[in-house]
Amino acid sequence: MLLVTGGAGFIGSNFVLQWCAHTDEPVLNLDALTYAGNLANLQSLAGSPQHMFVQGDIRDSALLNRLFAEHKPRAVVHFAAESHVDRSILGPEAFVETNVVGTFRLLEAARTYWSGLDEAAKAAFRFLHVSTDEVYGTLGPNDPAFSETTPYAPNSPYSASKAGSDHLVRAYQHTYGLPTLTTNCSNNYGPYHFPEKLIPLMIVNALAGKPLPVYGDGQQIRDWLYVEDHCAAIRRVLEAGQPGETYNVGGWNEKANIDIVQTVCALLDELAAAPDRGVRDARSGAPLGRYAELITHVTDRPGHDRRYAIDARKLERELGWRPAETFETGIRKTVQWYLANQEWVAAVQDGSYRDWVQTQYGARA
Ligand code: NAD
Ligand code: TYD
Repeated sequence: MLLVTGGAGFIGSNFVLQWCAHTDEPVLNLDALTYAGNLANLQSLAGSPQHMFVQGDIRDSALLNRLFAEHKPRAVVHFAAESHVDRSILGPEAFVETNVVGTFRLLEAARTYWSGLDEAAKAAFRFLHVSTDEVYGTLGPNDPAFSETTPYAPNSPYSASKAGSDHLVRAYQHTYGLPTLTTNCSNNYGPYHFPEKLIPLMIVNALAGKPLPVYGDGQQIRDWLYVEDHCAAIRRVLEAGQPGETYNVGGWNEKANIDIVQTVCALLDELAAAPDRGVRDARSGAPLGRYAELITHVTDRPGHDRRYAIDARKLERELGWRPAETFETGIRKTVQWYLANQEWVAAVQDGSYRDWVQTQYGARA
């Protein structure tokens, strides 16, 4: 069986759903259910013997040791993390706790368990660490995309804590021989994305007639990947990746934020026309013609990385992975998913979500 951490979050839940659709192998899903964890994402697996859920913290060594001893996983796929850059700016400590200390404790528990395996099981064991392209820092407009050999230069508390976890994973392979794999992926989007991140925030704000807050000039570039493509890449790396290697995962979709927001607005104009739905501007109360009327430039994020771009050629060359979705197909599916799942959105917009929106955007010019 697989031990998946963070499998109730955005990417983790997409991974668990995809895994269960493609294989019969059971999944033990360990998740603390922070604000970002949501068991509703896994509702379609309710009652399935293939999926076992444990609510717990990756910093809890006693729990980890017990889970390894009882369930004897053949592999760990480690998603659990604090993942939002803006939250890391306002409160970095949780990022060090979960991303650095938590990954360390998970590595220690995995090493203890793995050390006691026979030689064949030891060789077959895998610890797959899911990381981000943000560890490489920021690119200028004409710089080549990040490759696996680009030096680490993290700029936010989030990316620094992920870089710290990547270094620990590397050290456990180098020092103890633990068979690790690391994936560094670009920005994901798709179903079950918590609406604090750019794309889902813009969709849910637009449908409510609320401002669409674009940081600074909106010319920052991200390289977008549909979440199911990321999950397929992780399955491929788990299956055929070389222990000790890192693999960059990206969508070959560099886009400026303002263009992403314009695209979301155009899709909503097509699929959920504002006048037809009676959507009004939440500030002025005036009937809304086009969703793009809601775009509002606000104060930039401190230390905002200007451009990320991933060179995913190693993964294609060595393991034959390429994304299946283009940005155009993936973003259309995503907008359609949010329109069809407004109950899911309403359920995650609880009191703590509203507090976050007030803290983050309330004082922004
Ligand atoms: P997310 O914030 O949606 O989900 C994180 C999950 O981890 C949640 O279910 C949360 O409850 C759980 N968690 C948090 N702290 C925990 C702890 N101490 N113990 C146990 N569980 C805990 O994040 P995501 O966007 O799904 O990202 C998953 C992983 O992928 C992260 O490691 C992130 O760094 C990485 N990643 C994300 C992106 C992206 O665009 N979202 C891109 C590249 C890499
Ligand atoms: P985000 O989804 O937070 O991902 P990351 O910071 O990990 O790349 O943000 C994506 C981009 O969108 C980033 O350049 C910041 C920008 N952004 C806004 O302009 N407005 C917003 O309200 C948010 C949440 C993000």
